[in-house]
Amino acid sequence: MIERLEKLRSDTLELLSQLRDARALADARTRVLGRKGELTAILRGLKDLSPEDRADVGRVANLVKAELEKKFDQAEQALRDAQEQKRLSVEFVDVTLPGRRFIPGRSHILRRVTDEIINIFAGLGFQLAEGPEVELDYYNFEALNIPRDHPARDMQDTFYFSENVVLRTHTSPVQIRTMEKQQPPVRVICPGKVYRRDADMTHSPMFMQVEGLWVDEGIAFSDLKGILVAFVHEYFGQGVELRFRPSFFPFTEPSAEVDIQCVICGGKGCRTCSFSGWLEILGSGMVDPELYRFVNYDPEKYSGFAFGLGIERVAMLKCGVPDIRTFYENDLRFLNQF
Ligand code: DAH
Repeated sequence: MIERLEKLRSDTLELLSQLRDARALADARTRVLGRKGELTAILRGLKDLSPEDRADVGRVANLVKAELEKKFDQAEQALRDAQEQKRLSVEFVDVTLPGRRFIPGRSHILRRVTDEIINIFAGLGFQLAEGPEVELDYYNFEALNIPRDHPARDMQDTFYFSENVVLRTHTSPVQIRTMEKQQPPVRVICPGKVYRRDADMTHSPMFMQVEGLWVDEGIAFSDLKGILVAFVHEYFGQGVELRFRPSFFPFTEPSAEVDIQCVICGGKGCRTCSFSGWLEILGSGMVDPELYRFVNYDPEKYSGFAFGLGIERVAMLKCGVPDIRTFYENDLRFLNQF
């Protein structure tokens, strides 16, 4: 038995001195020390020996086992060291090379302008509301008091998926969707993309709006005015003047378009404001009581105002951008300016 152990030991050491390959080394280890290995078999056989022999052989077997385990470990380590040495001799680091610059991404200017507008209105107590861009004719037109064949539809031609499904032409349908879901008070701000058949320097087939809506008991035109003045002063600057011009929208009565003093020339007149000194930024008005019929609000009890603001429009004015299309061309030389 002891001889078998001795032989196993010397054979294994001999083998170890020759092996130069990690795979072969691992195989050899399994063959000798593994669960079904030769040494393990010998150790298992101890139980058949007489007690005296068992003690002797067992001691030798354990010594051989410990030695071989150590030798296998050493051989493996030596192999790893050799490989690492080889790798270092072919790979080297040129510390004089310039570093690879990591350029962090950033939000698009329209995203940041939108967030800024939302934040200002959040400070005035408005909550965020959203609606789908693929919208039902009912919400985009019908419930906003724009029936089929109403001439107001002409200005808002869009992509029709079917007779009743359109790409929304404004964020106003979110007014209806919000009021359908809750009773007053509602005070929401609804940003999002809208679509129209329109394309030139200042119009894009896809653009963004922010809708505002506040309905409660006793809301008056003066509230609309107060909120919009607060917004314009916060966004464009304290001194900027506002002008309310009578207008018409089917979903507000009375309606007003709001102009601000031209931020380019300060009101003296320039190309941007067509030498008028004023720039239109939004449509607004008192919610037409007709809308309350569609959402089961009591028009005797509640009143409210709404407004719709073009996001690109205010971004262009604030950042001095002359062509709306540059926002969507993803030219970093343009976008990185902001
Ligand atoms: N939805 C209108 C448009 O896109 C803008 C608008 C006007 C929104 C008056 C309103 C409003 O909420 O009261 O032209």
